Amino acid sequence: MGGLFQGRCGDNARAAVRLAFHDAGTFSLALQENALPNGGADGSILTDPTEVLRTENNGLQSIVSLLQPLPAQFGVSAGDIVHVAGVLAVLACPGGPQIPAFVGRREALNIAPMGLLPSPEDPVATLVARFADMGISSRSMIALIGAHTTGKQRFVNTTLANSSFDTTVDIWDTRFYTQTSEPTIDLPGTFKLDSDVAFASDPTTSGDFNRFIGAQSIWQSDYIAAHEQMSLLGQNVDDLTDCSEMLPVSIDLAPLAEVTSTGGGGSNKPVTDPLIDPIKLEAAIEQFRGIWLDPPVIIPS
Ligand code: HEM
Repeated sequence: MGGLFQGRCGDNARAAVRLAFHDAGTFSLALQENALPNGGADGSILTDPTEVLRTENNGLQSIVSLLQPLPAQFGVSAGDIVHVAGVLAVLACPGGPQIPAFVGRREALNIAPMGLLPSPEDPVATLVARFADMGISSRSMIALIGAHTTGKQRFVNTTLANSSFDTTVDIWDTRFYTQTSEPTIDLPGTFKLDSDVAFASDPTTSGDFNRFIGAQSIWQSDYIAAHEQMSLLGQNVDDLTDCSEMLPVSIDLAPLAEVTSTGGGGSNKPVTDPLIDPIKLEAAIEQFRGIWLDPPVIIPS
């Protein structure tokens, strides 16, 4: 399945990370407690032909088309494909950590409920409550939102389509947190979601948000736990098989930093987000991601 990403943190990878959230993020503890049709990490977004057509899933149609044949090809459920793809997509991004991967999810039981995915226009309290209804804490939500490090927007502001959420969209770094926390600084080619800016400044979430600025290893470890939890929403982990051993290694950004990435003025203090040397980065991608280059994946017409 790694061939889908060609070893690159490109549009397929960012779409697959978002897809994992949009599949799992329809889970609701309240619905579950009332025995009502529920969502979760069940791959319904691949199997229900109408789910991907919902407005909130705009932009995910291409990755859904690419993934739809894979359950039959690999003999696993649609949920397994969506969530293993999400884990591999994070790893396709240099700096992206290894998140435990599981297979054995049952097929979706219901059509995912409507209206449960968050909107960037929602107030912080609404977003915190929605994640709480998934069983995800506010701190884990802020860790998960860091996935926007590799994101672009196309539909929030169509005149700025394809602008990214930070200046290093092809790298899984904490620059998203740093740059979102400075909303007055205009960075050409980037776009800030209202919800992300609000998370950075709201007193209930800003502490968790700022905690990740320049703290790659702290964010990595919180992100791993939060993404694993997301990939299991509505599933019983005891029924699943851990297949993490098949995952490729993570690409560590630290050795790829430019040698000039130390504090200015003669100081040796490291800067918040070291610049990555493009030559070292390319060498690391070649070294660690060559196994992902075959077979090439053709987008169905
Ligand atoms: C408060 C919760 C969230 C809100 C309001 C939100 C909102 C959005 C919006 C509006 C976009 C741009 C869509 C477009 O116009 O193309 C986006 C993109 C994205 N989101 Fe989120 N998001 C949230 C949480 C998450 C989470 C939890 C993840 C994954 C763990 C995630 C991963 C992504 C990715 C990777 C993209 C980029 C997709 C691409 O470039 O193709 N988001 N999000």
